[in-house]
Amino acid sequence: MGDISHQRVVLVTGASTGIGRLCAERLAASGWRVFGAARSAGVIESAPGSNLDWLPMDVTDDVSVQTAIDTILAQTGRIDAIVNNAGFSMRGSVEDVPMEEARAVFETNFFGALRVCRAAAPALRARGGYIVNMSSLAGVVGLPFTGHYCATKFALEGLSECLRYEMRPYGVHVVLVEPGDYRTGIQANRRTSSETQQGVYAQAFDRFLQKRQAFAARAPTAEPVAALVEKILNDPAPRLRYVVAMPGQKLLPRLRRLLPQGVYEACFRRLLGL
Ligand SMILES: NC(=O)c1ccc[n+]([C@@H]2O[C@H](COP(=O)([O-])OP(=O)(O)OC[C@H]3O[C@@H](n4cnc5c(N)ncnc54)[C@H](OP(=O)(O)O)[C@@H]3O)[C@@H](O)[C@H]2O)c1
Repeated sequence: MGDISHQRVVLVTGASTGIGRLCAERLAASGWRVFGAARSAGVIESAPGSNLDWLPMDVTDDVSVQTAIDTILAQTGRIDAIVNNAGFSMRGSVEDVPMEEARAVFETNFFGALRVCRAAAPALRARGGYIVNMSSLAGVVGLPFTGHYCATKFALEGLSECLRYEMRPYGVHVVLVEPGDYRTGIQANRRTSSETQQGVYAQAFDRFLQKRQAFAARAPTAEPVAALVEKILNDPAPRLRYVVAMPGQKLLPRLRRLLPQGVYEACFRRLLGL
């Protein structure tokens, strides 16, 4: 292990674009030593003297994750926080999406975050720190034709809630961030089921996609998510869950809790054109 410096060290996964990139840059600007990781991060050059270093990491690969953690520890001797942000989205009906595709989205969004948590846990336990897991409103509210993505985020919510109890005695705070729609690379990187586009759900799927595209077109850029992550990492006692979304979307989890299920479903179906 390298000498332990006084600067706090954070690993941000999925940092090459979108929310992760904004988090990495914001945290580096505010004095953190940041390691920004992603599959393509290996080709981004670190500016000399900057607080932000880039690391190649594929969160679906045990060796790649462990190598990145070892590199950080060799260079700094500490990890104070991880932001598990790497992920992608998938659309299609539960019936149509092939099992291989269903597994792929879990391998990144859920097992990827789990893999990074496990690899970083000893360093985090040694000094206390933060695990921020990037969930989604889709980790709290089910969306039609987004079942596999929602399932990965619901799973991440469950895992994080359990992990929070386990790591609290070591001073490690486990926190979930639940963003609504923000304009990032997620729209371009999303996988869409061609089976659903051509099969029995084609018409409903098309109406749903049109409604969602209208939402996405109005989505703001993701600075509020990065600002929230910074706030959490400076909070000595952060909550388990934080929603960050435009006002209308922010209401969704509350409406789901408060309205009778039938009423909620009817409103949501209408909103989504179903
Ligand atoms: N934008 C939204 O509206 C929104 C809403 C709710 C939640 N979220 C969540 O926010 C997180 C970030 O998404 P984003 O919106 O910023 O999307 P994005 O711009 O597409 O960023 C995704 C990041 O994940 C990385 N990534 C993907 N697969 C990876 C893998 N196997 N290993 C390592 N890195 C991987 C990508 O880089 P490489 O391709 O270089 O690896 C990229 O840096 C995701 O977990 C997403 O579910 C986003």
